[in-house]
Amino acid sequence: MVRMLRGRKRVLDPFAGVGGIFMIGKFLPDAEVSGVEIEAEWAAQHSRTTLGNALHLPWPDGYFDAICTSPAYGNRLCDKLLRDRHKRKTYASELARELHPDNGGALPWGAKYRAFHLAAWTEARRVLEPGGLFVLNIKDHIRRGVVQPVTDWHIEALEGLGFRVLEHVHIDCPGMRFGQNRDARVDYESVILFQQDSAYGAQSRNRVPDQQ
Ligand SMILES: C[S@@+](CC[C@H](N)C(=O)[O-])C[C@H]1O[C@@H](n2cnc3c(N)ncnc32)[C@H](O)[C@@H]1O
Repeated sequence: MVRMLRGRKRVLDPFAGVGGIFMIGKFLPDAEVSGVEIEAEWAAQHSRTTLGNALHLPWPDGYFDAICTSPAYGNRLCDKLLRDRHKRKTYASELARELHPDNGGALPWGAKYRAFHLAAWTEARRVLEPGGLFVLNIKDHIRRGVVQPVTDWHIEALEGLGFRVLEHVHIDCPGMRFGQNRDARVDYESVILFQQDSAYGAQSRNRVPDQQ
């Protein structure tokens, strides 16, 4: 990610979690790095994280020259909070409470997941200058034995918003080995570098395309 972001001056992670994005600041000393997180406990883990909502970012149009982010993957981490004796690794169980109603980490892969992320990417594009970069970390998962095409969907959604893929890297990542699909894991994550088409004019920047 650092290599992809070299030379950038203002970088935003709209899904900042506990603030991993601020690690890139060490390698990009000239960059102003910002992060937004919707859950107060996680936003509080880094002093420079803004408590806020990726669907309504508090910056003007075109403020950033790069977005760098890892949204929820729509996998079992998004399962609802169940108060029983079983050990689970989910966003809600980490907080031991229900998530904020606008938390994309509560959405399993499906139509609502896609509508939420299309809205979030449209808002991210609004605060990105024309020609800006977008670095996406995403992963597919297996449900009932079938690989879910989460990565391809994000690529197509961002292409529909006027971004084009410059580079797509696979990173080895075996993941957790428990649960129903423990022997059938997608053992890599994708880091994808996009560039916004600078011809994508101001008029179309705030329009949400018809896409599911
Ligand atoms: C996959 S995690 C990102 C982890 C992060 N890269 C880190 O270093 O911790 C996705 C994060 O996005 C947050 N999130 C989900 N919906 C959000 C929204 N509407 N606005 C801001 N943050 C949101 C979740 O609470 C979660 O912490």
